[in-house]
Amino acid sequence: MTGWQARQLAEQTGRTFVITGANSGIGLETARDLVGRGGHVVLAVRDLAKGEQARSEITRGASGSAEVRRLDLSDLDSVASFAKDLAEQLEASGRLLNALVCNAGVMGGPYLMTSQGFERQMGTNHLGHAALVTALWPGLRAAGGRVVVLSSIAARGGRLSRTSSREDLVAPSPYQASRVYSNTKQANLLFAQELHRRAAAAGSPVSVVAAHPGVSATNLFSRQLREQNRGWLVPAARVVMPLVLQSAAAGALPTLRALHTSTPSGSFVGPRALGQFRGRPELLDVYSSAGDPAVAARLWALTEEVLGAPLPA
Ligand SMILES: NC(=O)c1ccc[n+]([C@@H]2O[C@H](COP(=O)([O-])OP(=O)(O)OC[C@H]3O[C@@H](n4cnc5c(N)ncnc54)[C@H](OP(=O)(O)O)[C@@H]3O)[C@@H](O)[C@H]2O)c1
Repeated sequence: MTGWQARQLAEQTGRTFVITGANSGIGLETARDLVGRGGHVVLAVRDLAKGEQARSEITRGASGSAEVRRLDLSDLDSVASFAKDLAEQLEASGRLLNALVCNAGVMGGPYLMTSQGFERQMGTNHLGHAALVTALWPGLRAAGGRVVVLSSIAARGGRLSRTSSREDLVAPSPYQASRVYSNTKQANLLFAQELHRRAAAAGSPVSVVAAHPGVSATNLFSRQLREQNRGWLVPAARVVMPLVLQSAAAGALPTLRALHTSTPSGSFVGPRALGQFRGRPELLDVYSSAGDPAVAARLWALTEEVLGAPLPA
């Protein structure tokens, strides 16, 4: 097979990565690869037991290491305490934070709210990650590190615009679950590009790359089915998904390429084949839904307003 291969990633000994949602799917496979190359991965998870299970699985026989830390992106207090504890531990150990992978995500389901009362999908996928990037920015800057943000082909259907309101972000009405998910993934892509532009303009050493994993067989779909009270479909989905979708390991390749130093800041990485559903990771054009800097600036301003604090860079 031609195209970019994970083996093009160098050895990662001495480098530290934070991956959100690293106990499952694409985050787990990304962590497995990096630990296998000697890296140290902080598994930032909301369920410590699942995190421990993942840690013991990916460190078995690997040259690298992993640690589990609790992070619930749907609670800004959890984001703040995760970042504070991590910064203290990095300083104490003399480690640098080489990369943050904003990977965790939820898709669909009923209208639920975060601890701060924001709609759950946007609160988790975009707002929680924006707060996390902001809190970890000093550490990333000190390391000349990289932020990788997971988007999706669903971003193509996002409807955030130059005139979007605070309510569009935190209290969408009427609530259409798949529309809101698309908006969150559009927000991920807009945020990554705006962060890249601002970091570059400020002469910051931090680089920012967006990625999408095509369509990969992970727990994203089974959790959605359960939340739609269609959990009885999960066993069938578990059989069918690996036959029609690419594997979670293949879905992690865009993230791994996004982490590679040869991938320029501001890039968007993902598969191109079959309508971008699968294939080797390539450098892609940003979707038109996320191509307008004025929309990105609007999202940036709204995000700062909702979080009540300036974003970095
Ligand atoms: N799979 C695909 O085809 C696909 C396509 C496009 C984009 N993506 C994106 O890829 C990323 C990874 O998804 P995946 O497919 O690997 O799904 P997954 O297997 O369901 O993994 C999602 C991860 O996010 C975590 N998570 C959810 N809510 C969280 C919260 N409030 N705080 C912290 N962690 C939370 C989950 O934790 P729990 O295990 O505790 O629930 C899980 O570890 C997501 O951003 C998704 O939007 C996936």
